[in-house]
Amino acid sequence: MKILVIGSGGREHAIVWRLAQDGAGHALFCAPGNAGIEALATTVPIGAEDVEGLTAWVRGNRPDLVVVGPEAPLCAGLADAIAALGVPVFGPCQAAARLEGSKAFSKEIMMVAGVPTARAEIFKDVTQAIAALERFDLPVVVKADGLAAGKGVIIAQTRAEAEEALRGMLEAGRFGAAGAEVLIEEFLEGEEASVFALCDGEHVALLPAAQDHKRVNDHDEGPNTGGMGAYTPAPIATPEVMAQVRDRVVLPTLRALRERGIVYRGVLFCGLMIGPKGVNVLEFNCRFGDPETEVVLPMLKGNFAALLLACAQGRLDASAVGTESGAAVTVVMAAPGYPGAYPKGLEISGVAEAEAIGCVVFHAGTAMREGKLVTAGGRVLTVTARGTNLREAVDNAYAGVAKIHFEGAHFRRDIAAKAFRHLH
Ligand code: AMP
Ligand code: GLY
Repeated sequence: MKILVIGSGGREHAIVWRLAQDGAGHALFCAPGNAGIEALATTVPIGAEDVEGLTAWVRGNRPDLVVVGPEAPLCAGLADAIAALGVPVFGPCQAAARLEGSKAFSKEIMMVAGVPTARAEIFKDVTQAIAALERFDLPVVVKADGLAAGKGVIIAQTRAEAEEALRGMLEAGRFGAAGAEVLIEEFLEGEEASVFALCDGEHVALLPAAQDHKRVNDHDEGPNTGGMGAYTPAPIATPEVMAQVRDRVVLPTLRALRERGIVYRGVLFCGLMIGPKGVNVLEFNCRFGDPETEVVLPMLKGNFAALLLACAQGRLDASAVGTESGAAVTVVMAAPGYPGAYPKGLEISGVAEAEAIGCVVFHAGTAMREGKLVTAGGRVLTVTARGTNLREAVDNAYAGVAKIHFEGAHFRRDIAAKAFRHLH
């Protein structure tokens, strides 16, 4: 199959790598790709958000399948433009991608579909929003409606803080159009998990749950990042939890969308909070998560391209989706200073050595400079390993991390530690 993957991060490296693992001799292309992806696919110098440029490439090159990594092009209608050319695309149409692009729309669909989620109210008017704070306990969550690169969610410990967040969004235009509408939401306690649901509009196959590690430091301390590591399967997502996700979350959501004439084809990423109030959806994303993809895809059996194509063509057979036993762990190695300002161009060594002991090293922010691999982003590499159990996977991943060096590299030392609390 001739396949174009769109994006340039660790997630897209994992998608391309997993397609290569099919061993089916696919012709792989990636726009724009990165230094790691280059070893597996022909990179195409078109940005992931250049909808016109990508559509023109697809028109000229007629791939058998396009797989879209990030949310921005999906929310901008890339899947619609590609589908209009008669080329199968894995990734939802613009109307369906609103599940991620608009938290107000997403909440509305969840309410219509009876999906368990935090109680919320939606506002455009700042006076009404501030008055509504009375109706919520503390802490309270304030969310910008639109895409805000993960920064649009504020957990306010006091009413003053919540009011400031509301004024920032609705009066000061802190997130631009993304903050022109806000949600005030009940705070939920518990542990988070990510579940990817492969969807063809009607049928659903859930992949094993994973957990991300958002904070930069061990024990979930320090500022938020794009994700410092992940592991799968997550023991908190018991078979009962997974059944609820399928029957009470994903299937009713697809049905509610269909009732509006919207067909969801792609992956529906369910961000869950599992706690005293049961299983609740915190958010939907319209794409694979990063770095969860870097552990979930290495566990997936079978022909990945065929599976994605079946979703794109509305003929997913969930019984055909199988996963390996054991576990997978990925540890992100970040540049010094990340998630704040960080230098680029630091020389990286040891990737081949980590691979030689069985790790898969996904590139997130790297570049080739004069034949040498150097850092080119905040999250630089993510080192994945499998194991017959989680302990082994953790040890294998950290053995890989120990082989890799660049000046000031930092990483969390407690990836997956949370899981062991459930396993003892
Ligand atoms: P979201 O983009 O909606 O997933 O929010 C980003 C992060 O904010 C989530 O991953 C949670 O850690 C936190 N969060 C969002 N909504 C809530 C909520 N209702 N209760 C507690 N934490 C939340
Ligand atoms: N790992 C969370 C995300 O991709 O949004």
